[in-house]
Amino acid sequence: MKVKVSHTTAVYESNNKRSKKLFHTAAHRHVIVHATTKDGWSYIQDGERYGYIATTSLTYAPHFRAIINHPKHAIVRITPNFSEKASTTLQYPTIVNAYEYDAKWTIVHTNKTLGFAPKNRLKKLPPIKLGKYNSGITTKKKRVAITFDDGPNTKYTPNILKTLEKHNVKATFFVTGNNVTKYPTIAKQIVLDGHEIGNHTYSHPKLTSISLKSATSQITKTNNAIEKATGVQPTVFRPPYGSYNEKIVQAAKMPTILWSVDTLDWQHRNPTKLLQIVKRQVKNGSIILMHDTNNASLKGLEDVIKYLQQNNYEIVTVSEILTPVQ
Ligand code: NI
Repeated sequence: MKVKVSHTTAVYESNNKRSKKLFHTAAHRHVIVHATTKDGWSYIQDGERYGYIATTSLTYAPHFRAIINHPKHAIVRITPNFSEKASTTLQYPTIVNAYEYDAKWTIVHTNKTLGFAPKNRLKKLPPIKLGKYNSGITTKKKRVAITFDDGPNTKYTPNILKTLEKHNVKATFFVTGNNVTKYPTIAKQIVLDGHEIGNHTYSHPKLTSISLKSATSQITKTNNAIEKATGVQPTVFRPPYGSYNEKIVQAAKMPTILWSVDTLDWQHRNPTKLLQIVKRQVKNGSIILMHDTNNASLKGLEDVIKYLQQNNYEIVTVSEILTPVQ
């Protein structure tokens, strides 16, 4: 598979920064990925030269959403080779970001690893219809999506990512272009940890108070900032203050996501109150609004996760909760 190098990067003899530096690939150059390792390296070919490069410096595009074929599972391997040891096994109904590799194999992005899964174990999902969504699709299995707005933020986002990782929970982050440009490393970490990234405009204006042209530019500039920092395009859009109209919904070219549970974290800044609101309001298909910009959401997150899991809610990303599964 051909991928683009996002910035000029060193290529090493083995998957180790202390090994011999072989050469540098130039920014925006296309290289061929032959394999990826669990610890974040890709074995690439740049013209006649081969070597190991940090997977994070590669931009994978275009990608599509796929679901593991029911009732099977998919074994993910580090190289596209059936005799290779399994690196992870994905069960139905896991939804993954996938990239075309060849006739038999697909590259799937799961957690921190990029791996190869046989194409016949994945079913391509149609893109989610444009429109406005306050909550997700209810399924037999109780599901809920946790969302964080207004980051990335140096003080809170890294610790929120740690809590999510500790509980193996995937969330959705609606970031502003301004903050992504300021803190590209944190934005990249959100994606590498397997969370969904959404567009929350560039400078957080009330979109219904500015011209449609300015609103569209707010969205486009943010898409570009996110792609530059993370290598992926955002998949969902949330208008600041939940303020939108039909023209903005169309201009976003992504599903417009509002919420059904407002934790009001920014207002009361109280983790106990945050949990109370979730307990009182949450139900199957809820989209919970939090912010990675205050202590209440950081301190209250662990208890919210525990409460939801004890009550048999599966915590999923926004794109997942908008996808009907059994
Ligand atoms: Ni906001």
